[in-house]
Amino acid sequence: MAIRNIVKEGDELLRKKSKPVVDFDKNLHMLLDDMVETMHKAEGAGLAGVQVGVLKRVFVMHAGKEIRECINPKILKEEGENKIKVEGCLSVPGKCGTVDRPEKVWVEYQDRNGNKVNKKFTGFEAKCFCHESDHLDGILYIDKATKMFKDRNEYGEYEKKKETK
Ligand code: CO
Repeated sequence: MAIRNIVKEGDELLRKKSKPVVDFDKNLHMLLDDMVETMHKAEGAGLAGVQVGVLKRVFVMHAGKEIRECINPKILKEEGENKIKVEGCLSVPGKCGTVDRPEKVWVEYQDRNGNKVNKKFTGFEAKCFCHESDHLDGILYIDKATKMFKDRNEYGEYEKKKETK
């Protein structure tokens, strides 16, 4: 396993559309292992292939109890409004912003062996699934953010002010 370099905002690569995975082989498994390790090292909740320079429709996420490896993901249905607004991205270091996402998503993807998986995610996992899926289409959360903050402190201050109003 190895830590891979994370592509940062400003790099054109992040704007490219990723291609479907067809080979569920050793190379894919190595990529997934590296991505999980890289995500954990960077203390992120999710990481997409494009963020480590691989334009394949894959992402990993650790937004709940389990680590998920999602290949060729699709969102089939969405419902509700996610209560969690704040979002960050390992490709946009430091900053954060508020983004509206669904509370529930019904999804389909393949695991590392190509088996079809159907799941329903809620809350933070739903939010994360949407954020990572966007990466595969060259979309960053900053494109959708209703408000941006230069760091978590600034966001904290904003939330505090809202409460006292
Ligand atoms: Co991201």
